[in-house]
Amino acid sequence: MPSRRALLYMPGDKWKMITKSISLGVDSICMDMEDGTAVNKKAEARATIAKALKELDFGKSEKLARINAVGSGWEKDDIDAVLPFRPDGIVIPKVESLEHVDWAAEIIETAELKYGWRINSIRILIGVETAKGILNLKEIASHPRLDAIIFGGEDFTTSIGATRTKDAVELLYARQAVVVACAANDLQAIDIVTIDYRDIEALRIESEFGARLGFSGKQIIHPAQVEPVQTAFTPNDEAIAHAKRIVETFEASQKEGKGAYSLDGKMIDMPLLKNAQKVLERAKAK
Ligand code: COA
Ligand code: MG
Repeated sequence: MPSRRALLYMPGDKWKMITKSISLGVDSICMDMEDGTAVNKKAEARATIAKALKELDFGKSEKLARINAVGSGWEKDDIDAVLPFRPDGIVIPKVESLEHVDWAAEIIETAELKYGWRINSIRILIGVETAKGILNLKEIASHPRLDAIIFGGEDFTTSIGATRTKDAVELLYARQAVVVACAANDLQAIDIVTIDYRDIEALRIESEFGARLGFSGKQIIHPAQVEPVQTAFTPNDEAIAHAKRIVETFEASQKEGKGAYSLDGKMIDMPLLKNAQKVLERAKAK
């Protein structure tokens, strides 16, 4: 699973944005056929994404294509248009049941067999962003093909009839439900978009909060959001140094027969060691 601190969307019909995105050093690039693409541009988006997959070198960035929701009527044409050009993964939005994932998994596996690609080599990421999706999360998240769950804040707000506020308190329950479902199934959890893309301070605060909740990354919609989000989802030098000290001192304390010990006046025991190891793991993406 690649590190996905920042997942950048652009409308699939916008060739200029796609070519720009590959110069940004962003972890994941998600060319969209769903809500970012106008209804009368769906066909153009399919063709443009296919061309991009065929012709462009995405470098280290992961190349993803987001199809329309299962049941929208567009999803089959979307996936058929892009899959032969081997994206790294397919993003399915508004997933509400295990069957929605199964639908895509079957088509993808058929393509993997047809083209001689390794089975399970095309990744599946899903958007869970409706009341039904959150209710069925336990079942959905257990699907063996999944890599990541993306939580869509704006769609979820609409789905439950909430009002979106700056501190996003109305989304807290669902965001935590997604983080827990992901942790239980070893999936990445990708947080909401900050739609006010000019407000970098708000982006920084929201990103740091998402990272503290346990998200591994965040969706973004503008090049200016890449750097602040990558920084927020990468442990800083202080956190890395602290984690290293825990790992180093833990072993010595175990040898002394102490499960718990004191470091700088704070108690350290097994869960803190595991957390420190996770910090060091995440720091490798830097
Ligand atoms: N990906 C790649 N490049 C992008 C981009 C994106 N998501 N958003 C903007 N850019 C580019 C612009 O093309 C422009 O390039 P240029 O300087 O070479 O001309 C540059 O970044 C600056 O863009 P700016 O003028 O500040 O923004 P804009 O007014 O052109 O676009 C949005 C603003 C919000 C319409 C645009 O950022 C966008 O469409 N974002 C993605 C929306 C989306 O996909 N939504 C669905 C998923 S939630
Ligand atoms: Mg959405």
